[in-house]
Amino acid sequence: MEHVTRDYAAEGERVRALNDVSLSVGSGRFVALVGRSGCGKSTLLHLAGAMDFPTAGHVRLEGLATDALSEPELTRLRREKVGFVFQSFQLLNTLSVVENVEVPLLLAGRRNPRPAAMERLASVGLAELAHRMTHQLSGGQMQRVAIARALVHGPRLLLADEPTGNLDTATGNAILHLLRQIREEQKLTILMATHSAEAAAIADVVIHMRDGQMVQD
Ligand SMILES: Nc1ncnc2c1ncn2[C@@H]1O[C@H](COP(=O)(O)OP(=O)(O)O)[C@@H](O)[C@H]1O
Ligand SMILES: [Mg+2]
Repeated sequence: MEHVTRDYAAEGERVRALNDVSLSVGSGRFVALVGRSGCGKSTLLHLAGAMDFPTAGHVRLEGLATDALSEPELTRLRREKVGFVFQSFQLLNTLSVVENVEVPLLLAGRRNPRPAAMERLASVGLAELAHRMTHQLSGGQMQRVAIARALVHGPRLLLADEPTGNLDTATGNAILHLLRQIREEQKLTILMATHSAEAAAIADVVIHMRDGQMVQD
């Protein structure tokens, strides 16, 4: 990110969600963004995943400026290179566990997504729950399904927005260790937003944010 600013217009007022942020994240790093609600963490993750664009400055993913890409190039980039995990899991509750994990592969046009989805589920320890409906899972299990879905297409970058925010401490810690383990196994880069210093401690780099800016520790 090079001098990235992101303004929103809310009821005629300008809200500066990010204010001149410059940040370079090396491949394979696990970076935690820490700060209070409203400091700009989610905005930064959306920009990093090319789901939103800066008002000023540039975001580059593997050297490509996201604001210079066409809509089809952006769709491909998001589908192939980025995975997203949310606080609220965002599972589709009319689909089974394994069907949820298949969704990104189906969107990418994969013919027979079941074996890859099963393999991914096994890697998060949920192979035996593949045919359950999502409402039959605990919160920690739901987040494991969401992580399997975010990684099934082999992205290079995982964006996790408060991934432990809806979980109790022990379950949240298990999810954090799973993220760390996955990062180590697969040269994955992780950007995780959290307001918990405890959660951030799992990362190799902790960036503190306040009022749309990175602050020095
Ligand atoms: N779509 C939006 N429209 C207007 N303001 C927004 C929008 N999204 C976020 N904001 C504002 O931008 C600031 C940063 O928000 P956000 O990135 O969601 O912070 P965090 O994830 O750290 O809680 C907040 O003041 C928030 O109210
Ligand atoms: Mg947020």
